[in-house]
Amino acid sequence: MILLVGGEKGGAGKSCMAQNLAVYITQAKQANVLMVDCDPQRTTSDWIQARNEDPNLPLINCIQLYGKIRNDLLGLDQRFDYIIVDCGGQDNLAMRAAMSVASYVVLPLRPKRRDLKTLPHMEDMLSTCKMVNPKMIATVVMTQCPPLPTQFKRILEAKEVVNSFNLKVLDHVTFNRNIYDDSEESGSSVLEIEPDGKAANEIRAIAEELFAIPPENAYEFQQAKEGS
Ligand SMILES: Nc1ncnc2c1ncn2[C@@H]1O[C@H](COP(=O)(O)OP(=O)(O)OP(=O)(O)O)[C@@H](O)[C@H]1O
Ligand SMILES: [Mg+2]
Repeated sequence: MILLVGGEKGGAGKSCMAQNLAVYITQAKQANVLMVDCDPQRTTSDWIQARNEDPNLPLINCIQLYGKIRNDLLGLDQRFDYIIVDCGGQDNLAMRAAMSVASYVVLPLRPKRRDLKTLPHMEDMLSTCKMVNPKMIATVVMTQCPPLPTQFKRILEAKEVVNSFNLKVLDHVTFNRNIYDDSEESGSSVLEIEPDGKAANEIRAIAEELFAIPPENAYEFQQAKEGS
């Protein structure tokens, strides 16, 4: 199963989400997880390196791939239970390639205008990729949300903007918490640093909501396959 964490906006929380989801899957599904880092900045590769230096943290594999990665991903999908692709905005080709084979596409965005401005292009890219990968489940997840109750309206408004582009957005969000940044430093996850903490609960809720979404075009896709 291939899960892409992508999007064009720098700093939206793609690598952070990819890493925390990788740990969630390793723990909750006791699965064999491979992370694919498509970002020349190597954020996730550095995180894995720090992680694998700590013998107390369960091992997660990671490789770097760039550009036309579709066939590489399909090959790796045979060998791993889950492949989590961390695609920065820099490698557009890798992001499109991953979208063409991913079962899940997660797009982290902050509830900020500059992040929301990337939505028209993302929607365009997703609808093109859906033609070749109709079973793909794509959803935005709001990250780094302001925790103040007075700012709650901003999160709701941002979600409405996402919906106006006919894109899904998860109910669950991550709030702005230092533990996300702190856990990364040691190759760890919020699930490992503070398993009962608020951030850990956020990640679990996001993952559970994501994996509970039924494939949108599953029925039509099956009919088309049987008819062909
Ligand atoms: N919910 C959160 N609360 C606080 N900090 C967060 C949260 N999510 C991510 N961050 C922090 O924001 C910074 C940027 O996150 P991250 O590196 O995951 O973004 P990115 O989208 O991968 O960026 P890039 O486009 O450069 O690859 C990191 O320092 C990360 O720890
Ligand atoms: Mg990144």
